[in-house]
Amino acid sequence: MPVPHKTFYLETFGCQMNVHDSEKVIGTLVHEGYQQVETVEQADLILYNTCSIRDKAEQKVFHRLADYKKLLKQGKKFGVLGCVAQQEGEKIFERAPHVSLVCGSASYRNLPQMLAQLEAGQPTDPAPFDEASSRSPAFSPAGRGISRGAPEVLVRITGLDDRETDKCFETEFTARTNPHRGYITIIEGCDKFCSYCVVPFTRGKERSRTSDSVLAEARQMADLGYTEIQLLGQNVNSYKDSAGKRSFAELLAAVGEVPGIKRVRFTTSHPRDFGRDIIDAIDAVPTLCDHVHLPVQSGSDRVLNAMQRLYTRDQYLERIAWMKSAKRDISITSDIIVGFPGETEQDFAETLSLLEEVGYDAIFTFKYSPRPNTPSLALDDAIPDQEKSRRLEVLMAKQKEIQITRYKKYIGEVLEVMVEGRNDSRNQWIGRTSQNKTLNFTAPDTSSPKIGSYAPVRATVSFPNSLLGELVV
Ligand code: 5AD
Ligand code: SF4
Repeated sequence: MPVPHKTFYLETFGCQMNVHDSEKVIGTLVHEGYQQVETVEQADLILYNTCSIRDKAEQKVFHRLADYKKLLKQGKKFGVLGCVAQQEGEKIFERAPHVSLVCGSASYRNLPQMLAQLEAGQPTDPAPFDEASSRSPAFSPAGRGISRGAPEVLVRITGLDDRETDKCFETEFTARTNPHRGYITIIEGCDKFCSYCVVPFTRGKERSRTSDSVLAEARQMADLGYTEIQLLGQNVNSYKDSAGKRSFAELLAAVGEVPGIKRVRFTTSHPRDFGRDIIDAIDAVPTLCDHVHLPVQSGSDRVLNAMQRLYTRDQYLERIAWMKSAKRDISITSDIIVGFPGETEQDFAETLSLLEEVGYDAIFTFKYSPRPNTPSLALDDAIPDQEKSRRLEVLMAKQKEIQITRYKKYIGEVLEVMVEGRNDSRNQWIGRTSQNKTLNFTAPDTSSPKIGSYAPVRATVSFPNSLLGELVV
């Protein structure tokens, strides 16, 4: 009889860094003999890879844990990974006593030992809990609560490594979910300490990989058939090759020159560290995509200063001018926060005027949310939620107008798309342009584009967020 697999279910919240971390976690678990399943009900181990960027994101995981608490009786185990794990640590066991594993992203390389400990799970076995293990920085038993009514005694394991030194992003096993485009982490953590942001506290100090190791991973991916690579970091522009060989722009160019790689993207950028050499690299290397995500957060100097963003509106606009002088039409996107403490109507109006001035192709908009440990927690979060919502709506309506105009310009143009999938109900193919725009298209029945291939598509209809077109045959 085949040996039944241990099964796990993993739900991921938050940013692309978390999505990629989950690929590392899945790779590690599969290597340890676990099988990933689609539902909580099918799983022995239920994991949540969490985000704590805003309060709402953080609450989501506690809601999920509460929803599925009853499954503990069936012997299922629960684990909390990622940013909430790092931020809350052992406090998670108090808020959700049925959790057995709390593991921050710096400790994923220790997951195999932590899982073994969890499986052994016998408090009668002193081995994992003796002095030797508690001395290990890698993981430690946080306590052994006895949960009445539960079929077994809960063993609690924590992995909350030092965020200063780890090189966790170089994990051995990564189960990339898409066979054509994949992420590579080049830098972890953030040293900027924007006053609202929890990231420096959850992901720790900046640590960069060597450009040689990034390039080796890019070549390996190209050999496996990947054609698109997205370089990831909280602030990719402050990438510093720990071997001192290449600047960020040089690394970008080198990845773009790896044989077989057709598209290179990077996210996220910080205006303070965004150098002109990045635009020069985009000009020089055609595989570097003509898209830059450059979060501005606010159009008001007063608010930017209170946010400790380290640049002014004019300095931001200088970077935008570099992009606009590039040889290709670079698509620009951004993140904006409304309702930061002290943001006046005038400040908000300056954000609206910035949207007009830049002409973004997309923005991600957020209501300010006070976060633990952050400097802005000391400021009075006095703008009522209703007013934050109103500003958000005004912002989104303004941006929609801008996008309607901007997307119209592409009608009649032939753009190259990567074929990402198929929408059978609409009889359309799903495509993405180098500018990161969605360009869905129809194709004659005789030509069946391959997922992952590149195809020329003529845009015929525009929407505020996407384009529709026809395959050029
Ligand atoms: N409140 C609201 N939005 C936030 N962001 C980061 N921290 C907060 C916060 N405390 C937004 C920023 C950032 C994006 C990833 O999330 O716009 O660029
Ligand atoms: Fe947060 Fe600012 Fe760092 Fe971005 S640059 S992760 S907003 S602290």
